[in-house]
Amino acid sequence: MTNDAYTLASEAAAALTGAAGLDTFDVALVMGSGWVPAADAIGETLREIPFTDLPGFRAPAVAGHGGRIRVVRTSAGRHALVFLGRTHLYEGLGVDAVVHGVRTAAAAGVRTLVLTNAAGGLRPETQNVGDPVLISDHINLTGANPITGTTFIDLTEVYSRRLRALVREIDPTLTEGVYVAFRGPTYETPAEIRMLRTLGGDMIGMSTVLEAIAAREANLDVLGISLVTNPGAGLSGEPLNHEEVLEVGRATAARMGVLLAKVVDQL
Ligand code: 6GU
Repeated sequence: MTNDAYTLASEAAAALTGAAGLDTFDVALVMGSGWVPAADAIGETLREIPFTDLPGFRAPAVAGHGGRIRVVRTSAGRHALVFLGRTHLYEGLGVDAVVHGVRTAAAAGVRTLVLTNAAGGLRPETQNVGDPVLISDHINLTGANPITGTTFIDLTEVYSRRLRALVREIDPTLTEGVYVAFRGPTYETPAEIRMLRTLGGDMIGMSTVLEAIAAREANLDVLGISLVTNPGAGLSGEPLNHEEVLEVGRATAARMGVLLAKVVDQL
């Protein structure tokens, strides 16, 4: 079963390189909800490949999550695979489906992975809605893990210190934080949000951690960036909804796009 997932990723990588007309890529970026409007700024689109053209990919179920891979050339001539959309654990397709894009990118020769997401802020004292926050580490409360078997993988530095330093040189105003992942699709209760603050979390979301683990298994360098789209439940007095997550992304697209373009060109 586990082997099948890696074989499927190799098949998807072969189909992807064929459809892209390229056989190496410098970087892959996964655009979370809230980040899709920023994708246009990364570079010139060479091709777009619908997920449905590639083995093992599914069209994402949620509005704002896209569903295709864009092959992009940056102004410095780098080639990027930009995933417009991802599969979430809450869709019920299993953990292999969640990390299939990462395994496909790795099988296609990518060595650096940028994971973006929209997240609830657990520290409204110091975080503003619309701020990007670098992920320094994570707490995986999804109950899932993409790796099975007896290979023990070191997670001391999931999110590359070198890449975080590079991004902070580009934008010295950026802060770092610990990203906590729940399975979803429910948002958390106010009591859970208080628990996560006590546990040392800074952002809360429903993605990224499983992809980051799969990336480390494949020895990719990982950069993670959350866009804080709202405070966690009970911290603002307002109920949460997905539309506000997308709206913050639209409002910050220019800032996020410029940041990503600089990051990719300076990798
Ligand atoms: Cl508050 N929680 C979760 N789990 N995901 C989110 C969020 C909150 N805000 C945006 N995405």
